[in-house]
Amino acid sequence: MISRFFNPVDTRFGWGSLDQLASLTEHQRVALVTFPEARALGLVDRIQALLGERLVHVIEDVQPNPDVAHLRRTYEQFWQQAGECDTVIAVGGGSAIDTAKALIVGTERGSFDELLALLASGKAFLPARCKRLIAAPTTAGTGSEVTPWATIWDTEQQKKYSLHLDCTWPSVALIDPELMVTVPMGVTVSTGLDALSHALEAIWNHNANPISDTFAVSAIEDILECLPKLQHNLDSRELRSRMALAALKAGMAFSNTKTALAHSISYEMTLRHGLPHGIACSFTLPLVLGLAWGQDAERDRILQRVFGSDLNQAQAWLRTFLHSLSVKTEFADYGVSAEQAQTLLNDAIKGARGQNFIGSASALR
Ligand SMILES: [Fe+2]
Repeated sequence: MISRFFNPVDTRFGWGSLDQLASLTEHQRVALVTFPEARALGLVDRIQALLGERLVHVIEDVQPNPDVAHLRRTYEQFWQQAGECDTVIAVGGGSAIDTAKALIVGTERGSFDELLALLASGKAFLPARCKRLIAAPTTAGTGSEVTPWATIWDTEQQKKYSLHLDCTWPSVALIDPELMVTVPMGVTVSTGLDALSHALEAIWNHNANPISDTFAVSAIEDILECLPKLQHNLDSRELRSRMALAALKAGMAFSNTKTALAHSISYEMTLRHGLPHGIACSFTLPLVLGLAWGQDAERDRILQRVFGSDLNQAQAWLRTFLHSLSVKTEFADYGVSAEQAQTLLNDAIKGARGQNFIGSASALR
């Protein structure tokens, strides 16, 4: 059996690595995509100082879970006002990076509805034009800086679109833990749990292989050890760095496997119940662990390296871990009845990400 791992992102990790933006953008015109608080944190000024006149356009009103209603205006303004730029720099969490991925994909006329129609077709397409993307995450969790995927939401229509093209792989990922030191506790926990979910989803996945497993297991070990400590010591450079690296490893793992059932469940929990992504994709991890266990001897072996050989103990341990981070682990805790949860689970298994899950066939039997 030949395993293959592919990731084309030029990945740079380390304290202060954001400064490399200057050398990475020489002789280019640059647009910055970032979150509303970035200016108050001094980030916009810092990037302006690094780039000088190269910085020709700034978008700083990125919303959590980029929604078509807001993205339409941003997209069309971007292509009207910054269509000549060479590179887009995304500085922020998953929402900023996903927004930037949508922006860099240029349609024939620069209209957002053209892009939406292409996404709605569900087929791969060749964009009329595409910008270079540099991604610098400010949270330890998303992994979007080393994957080609972006999620675009349509809350009014209660659906989501998945963007994935060859050109939506970032050219460069700058993982600078210094950008993460000001992240408050709630976001630190939810994004850290997103990374945990990415790593576990990469293991209970039809697309897993020994290379993705290596990244995933290492990420899980780090997150289980670091995240509980970090929530009580948010200023720790060491813990911020370790979580940043763990989230990167989880990102590398699922960049080759995609996500699975826990994420498929999460989309509905975010759309209908407004849960932040990191909570929506992690509160079911003990449940999904139980559904994965016993499906495949090789996958069991990897899971047991992390959790030991007793499923009940493993699930109980994972629940306790989540509770220690103030995350509730039952559907009922989020106002979802047992009957609704079963329907949601069945639908999630049938979804594209659900079909990556190793237990999908037996769960539907
Ligand atoms: Fe995620």
